[in-house]
Amino acid sequence: MSLLAVENLVVRYGQLTALRGVSLHVEEGETLFVTGPNGAGKSTLLKAIAGVVRPAEGRIRLAGADITGNAPETTARLGFSMVPEGRQVFPELTIEENLWLGVGIRRNRAAAAADLDHIYAVFPMLRERRHAAAGILSGGQQQMLVIARALMTAPRLVAIDEPSLGLAPKIIDQVYELLMRLRAERQLTLLIVEQSSTRALMTGGRLVLLRSGQIVLEGACDALDGATLERAYFGYDGPAEVTAS
Ligand SMILES: Nc1ncnc2c1ncn2[C@@H]1O[C@H](COP(=O)(O)OP(=O)(O)O)[C@@H](O)[C@H]1O
Ligand SMILES: [Mg+2]
Repeated sequence: MSLLAVENLVVRYGQLTALRGVSLHVEEGETLFVTGPNGAGKSTLLKAIAGVVRPAEGRIRLAGADITGNAPETTARLGFSMVPEGRQVFPELTIEENLWLGVGIRRNRAAAAADLDHIYAVFPMLRERRHAAAGILSGGQQQMLVIARALMTAPRLVAIDEPSLGLAPKIIDQVYELLMRLRAERQLTLLIVEQSSTRALMTGGRLVLLRSGQIVLEGACDALDGATLERAYFGYDGPAEVTAS
């Protein structure tokens, strides 16, 4: 059984159809990248899974349970955690307070404290600054903080919307290094949204390419080449070859 299974998902915003029958699955322990141009529907897909937007058609299952149209807290309790786009930290609160906010729905404080210890072991930078206001962190550090916060519910599946947006390549390397470490150490399953497929090809796992609300290409990252991806991304076969006549 797939950890996440999405079937024929349709999401509309008024007249606009943002997702037109998207089906995908995420297996336990794997990393699935959802890539595609701006406006393709990537964030909408994550929001529909999280329960932030309600699909018009289709089914979403998490570990076999039908979560279609669930309230976000209900889906979170079943082991789904989302890191939305834009690194939303509470700048006036300390780093540790920001982390505790992630526990909101969880009753077992002792287990959460153990998770905090593990998170600090993986993110020593956060431990060192735990009593400082989150607003002092750089963009890359804030990205680490929101990822760390998403882990405070001990999720099985973490979805992250464009973690590399606006970060320097070297910082993106660090973010991905941490993600891969967390995946291994905590048996996490990752659903990562990125506009470009560059990171997916570097990181490995599986990839689906979304364009205009539909999946136009999917495959194992190590089996896809740049030219095929580019054709699917832009939806054409490239400039016509100029032949001498
Ligand atoms: N709240 C909204 N209301 C109306 N249209 C929206 C809303 N959110 C997204 N859209 C539209 O839905 C489409 C998909 O958006 P989005 O899922 O944000 O794409 P992506 O994350 O791939 O850039 C776009 O055309 C976007 O303008
Ligand atoms: Mg988006």
